[in-house]
Amino acid sequence: MPKLVWLNGQITPLESATTTVADHAHLYGDGLFEGIRIYNHRVWKLDEHLDRLYHGIKFLGFEVSMTVGEMRSTVLDVCRQADISDGYIRLNVTRGTGLGLDPKGIDRSANVMIMVSTLSLYPAEAYEMGLTVVTSSIRVIPADSLDPRIKCIGRYAANILAKQEGNRMGAGEALMLNYQGQIAECTGDNIFLIEKNVLRTPHPSCGILKGVTRDTAIAIAKDAGYAVEETILTPFDVFSADEAFLTGTAAEIIPMISLDGKKIGCGTPGPVTQDLMARFRQLTATTGASF
Ligand SMILES: Cc1ncc(COP(=O)(O)O)c(C=O)c1O
Repeated sequence: MPKLVWLNGQITPLESATTTVADHAHLYGDGLFEGIRIYNHRVWKLDEHLDRLYHGIKFLGFEVSMTVGEMRSTVLDVCRQADISDGYIRLNVTRGTGLGLDPKGIDRSANVMIMVSTLSLYPAEAYEMGLTVVTSSIRVIPADSLDPRIKCIGRYAANILAKQEGNRMGAGEALMLNYQGQIAECTGDNIFLIEKNVLRTPHPSCGILKGVTRDTAIAIAKDAGYAVEETILTPFDVFSADEAFLTGTAAEIIPMISLDGKKIGCGTPGPVTQDLMARFRQLTATTGASF
């Protein structure tokens, strides 16, 4: 399976793909991205990822000549050429090229990059044993600075700091609160708590990325008969939960078994989490946009 990059219309092997150093995302983080999964020769939730991307493009005022439909068919075409059955697509759109932060002074012709590759976020045993999580001192960027629904490249500096903090503490993941001390999300994942078979997850207004996998987990849970609440949660709620799990395109659904050294429930992946993981796997194996 070749790892391929489509960059502004040119396809090259990943190892030799290059972009300009004056790209506005390289200089200022002024770009958007999506991470998208390929399962069994199908692109999972492609339309949902493209919706989020194009909402971000509109919000940040990028000038992108490709329509959503053209982007969709290009993504599928690059996957076809890579002939990959299971993998990860990184789709980047940046504002354009030029020095100076003022968009007025640069070539505002968006740079589009589609990379078809592989990624594994957590070790395989973490899906069996569960992740240990610590609370990070780094808070999510407030929505009145940069709305977290915008998957902006520059925003991830805060998440990387939180991830490093988690690494220093020997944890599998780091939990980020908002500036009010409410639970927001982990560095690349949304969080769910389960208490008495009811799923609770932070409301989008708590400063989260409204994850595509979060939406899928909510839909799967409701289909399976579980109640789901989008609400305000604090660290206390984690300690009174029976189970917890994280969701993300790269993470999929992964159990969370402790916070700051304290066990959640029995400290092992719980039955509801395992049920939802199995349902999620079943769905990803059988649906998606074929190429
Ligand atoms: C900060 C953050 N939260 C949540 C998520 C999960 O979102 P999704 O399920 O759309 O991948 C991600 C993944 O990209 C993320 O980076």
